[in-house]
Amino acid sequence: VRMKIFIDSAEVGEIEKYISWGICDGVTTNPSICLSAGVKGGEEGMKERVIAIAKLIAPKPLSVEVTTDNPEQILVEARKYNTWAENISVKVTITDRNGGSLLPAIYKLVSEGISVNVTAMMTFNQAIFAAKAINDGMSQSKVKKTHYISIFAGRISEEHGVEQSQKILKELREWLDFHNYKNIEIIVGSVRNPENVELWAKSGAHVLTIPPAVIAKCLSSARTKETVVQFLNDADKALQQL
Ligand code: E4P
Repeated sequence: VRMKIFIDSAEVGEIEKYISWGICDGVTTNPSICLSAGVKGGEEGMKERVIAIAKLIAPKPLSVEVTTDNPEQILVEARKYNTWAENISVKVTITDRNGGSLLPAIYKLVSEGISVNVTAMMTFNQAIFAAKAINDGMSQSKVKKTHYISIFAGRISEEHGVEQSQKILKELREWLDFHNYKNIEIIVGSVRNPENVELWAKSGAHVLTIPPAVIAKCLSSARTKETVVQFLNDADKALQQL
C-alpha cells in the first residue's frame, strides 16, 4: 500500500489548497484543531464545518473526535457523527482521562459498521490492543470500512526521543503485517517538523497526518529559491540575445 498524507487541520481553505496540489488523501481533526480553526456555534457550528470538509474531500476520510470520555456518551456522539457524512471516521481516545479502557466503546462502534480512529496512543501495547478490538468488531459487522490507529509520535518523541517513536511505528507495522490484520491503518500524528516527516515517512506507517505549517516548511528551500532566481535571470538574458 502506498503511504498516504492526511491534512491535520479543520481550515476549509487550507484543505482545499492541498486538494488542488494533489497531496491530500484525507483529513484529521481533534477538538484542539477545531478550536484553533475558529469553529464556533456549539454542535451546529461543528456539524456545519464537518459536513463542509467531508463533502470537499469525499470519498477520502475525515476524522472527527468525540468530545467526551464517557463510554455511553461516546456511543451517542459517534453514532450521530456517522450520520453526518459517509466518509467520517470517529476518533475515540484509547483510554479515558483516568486511564480507564475505552475499548468497549471502540469494539461496539466497529461492530456497528462505524469507522473508528483510535487516538492519543503513545505505546506499542495500546496500539495492539486497539487493533485487536477493531478486528473483533469488524468480524461482527457486514460493513467493510477502514479503521485507524493513531500514534502520537511527536508527543512520544518529546518524552522518550525520536528513536523510540520510530521504533514503535516500525514494530507496529511489522506486527500488523505478521498477524495479517486487514483494514487497519497506522496514522502518525503530532508531526512537528520536516525532519519528522522525513523519518516517519520511512517508518512503515500507512498514513502521515501533517499540519499545514509543516507542509509549507517541507516544500521550501532557500537554495531552491536562489536557483529559481538564477534560472529566471538567465532566461531573461538568453531571450534578449535571441
Ligand atoms: C492527529 O490525528 C492528531 O490529533 C494530531 O496530530 C495531534 O497532534 P498534537 O500532538 O500536535 O496535538
